[in-house]
Amino acid sequence: MLTSERLRNPALFDKIVTADKAADLIKDGMNVGFSGFTPSGYPKKTTLALAEQIKNGKKCSINVWTGASVGPEIEEALAEVGGICGRAPYYAASNKALKKGINNETIHYIDCHLSHFGPLVDYGFVGDVDVAVIEAAAITETGDIVLGPGVGNTPIFAKHAKKIIVEVNTSIPLSLEGMHDIYICNRPPHRTEIPIYHAGDRVGSPYLTCGIDRIDAIVESDILDHVRNLTPPDENSMKIAENLVDFLENEQRQGRIPEQMLPMQSGVGSIANAVLAGLAKSKFENLNMFSEILQDSVFDLIKMGKITKASGCAFTPSPRVWSMYKEDPELYRKALVLRPLDISNNPGVIRRLGVIAMNTPIEFDIYGQANSTHIMGNSMMNGIGGSGDYMRNGYITIFSTPSTAKDGCISKIVPMVTHADHTEHDTMVFITEQGVADVRGLDPLQRAKVIIDNCAHPDYRPQLREYLRKAKEGSGHEPVDLAHCFDMQLNFIKNGTMRLD
Ligand code: COA
Repeated sequence: MLTSERLRNPALFDKIVTADKAADLIKDGMNVGFSGFTPSGYPKKTTLALAEQIKNGKKCSINVWTGASVGPEIEEALAEVGGICGRAPYYAASNKALKKGINNETIHYIDCHLSHFGPLVDYGFVGDVDVAVIEAAAITETGDIVLGPGVGNTPIFAKHAKKIIVEVNTSIPLSLEGMHDIYICNRPPHRTEIPIYHAGDRVGSPYLTCGIDRIDAIVESDILDHVRNLTPPDENSMKIAENLVDFLENEQRQGRIPEQMLPMQSGVGSIANAVLAGLAKSKFENLNMFSEILQDSVFDLIKMGKITKASGCAFTPSPRVWSMYKEDPELYRKALVLRPLDISNNPGVIRRLGVIAMNTPIEFDIYGQANSTHIMGNSMMNGIGGSGDYMRNGYITIFSTPSTAKDGCISKIVPMVTHADHTEHDTMVFITEQGVADVRGLDPLQRAKVIIDNCAHPDYRPQLREYLRKAKEGSGHEPVDLAHCFDMQLNFIKNGTMRLD
């Protein structure tokens, strides 16, 4: 039941409607901007009601715009009833109906650097925001919004939306109030420097400016975010974490990283979470994160006193971590800053702070190109997300992954990536359970040697070396043998393994 704790102006109570009534505001072909980010802080009731309306005959298929992936109450519920015609800028492949639609081209998907999408909307390049649907913890007396744990692109959507629906979710702890730092950049030519000089700097407002008059409907909700539990660290991810810590400690010994560790960014998924958790065993103290997403391990490291500041555009606590948060909200409130996506992923700020970026690829090649998005070059997994924002602008950029996938049947180190998201010009360091390939300052053939020797699984090294030998029979600066590359992939498709022997 919504009380004056959550709706802090009596006029707001007149705007409460059922989810069904709110869904009536969404019409066929509209661009709808949703709050939330991987999957936290996203609205749920309005889209569940819309999906029901579509099931019952309403003709409505919309462009779903978000910060990143959101939960099944939007992605799955709408995709299952044909309610999504377009999706941007990132999605979760765990939502099967959406994955199917994106990969059979019935849903138009714009896979986009996450820092780009807010500006694309702000500059009017992709069309109007017809409706914004925003999940909130509360609405203030002046009609400003206390957001939940996922900021994403909400401020840009709210700025432009012709209609605004706010879902006030009573399951979001009110202790989140004050954690946000909402800053909107001016448009060129009036854009100025974003004055963030340390990961924890606050430069905006704790509230999303909206105003009572701009709110068209308020829906009450108590549905929890659909956060999946991450796979616990396995032997490989613990070895990768050990290799990472050794690498970073050595960089510090060599004076290439200052004594006070630079802010770190950690990517999405189980491997990224497990690798970050490995920092618990490092000698680093007083760590800062300047990241996009803050997964479970960040909370564990805050609790241990290892991380003192963590800036992101969302946190995605599993049920275990939510309970930890609720036991001592003050501890986490002191450490956390939640920003809009185009600030958390801003290239200028990432370069200024000297962020050490750590992400997980699907595969990478012997010359240092990485694929973050397409399985076997075809099937869109999730999207590039913020990996490009960080890997192109970080102080040191690190891709870490196990050396093989699918029980060793696929080598994640390949002759040539089947889809290039990150070119060899951007990548610096690769880490697998086998070791570390530091390719900074190396030419293509030097890179190939160190990547095969240090990162590839021993079962695949002879094959990769043989590939390189053959490729070098032709001449060139970065020699390739396309026929041989395809053989490895065809062998996988036919025989379920990339091994040719
Ligand atoms: N070939 C075929 N399948 C592969 C593969 C490869 N080279 N690499 C991984 N896979 C499969 C896995 O076997 C697994 O399949 P399953 O779901 O059937 O078990 C699936 O892809 C996911 O792999 P997993 O290792 O469990 O993924 P993860 O949770 O560590 O996430 C990414 C890895 C690449 C999918 C994830 O990091 C991502 O989406 N990255 C892009 C966006 C990004 O980097 N964002 C960070 C910005 S801040």
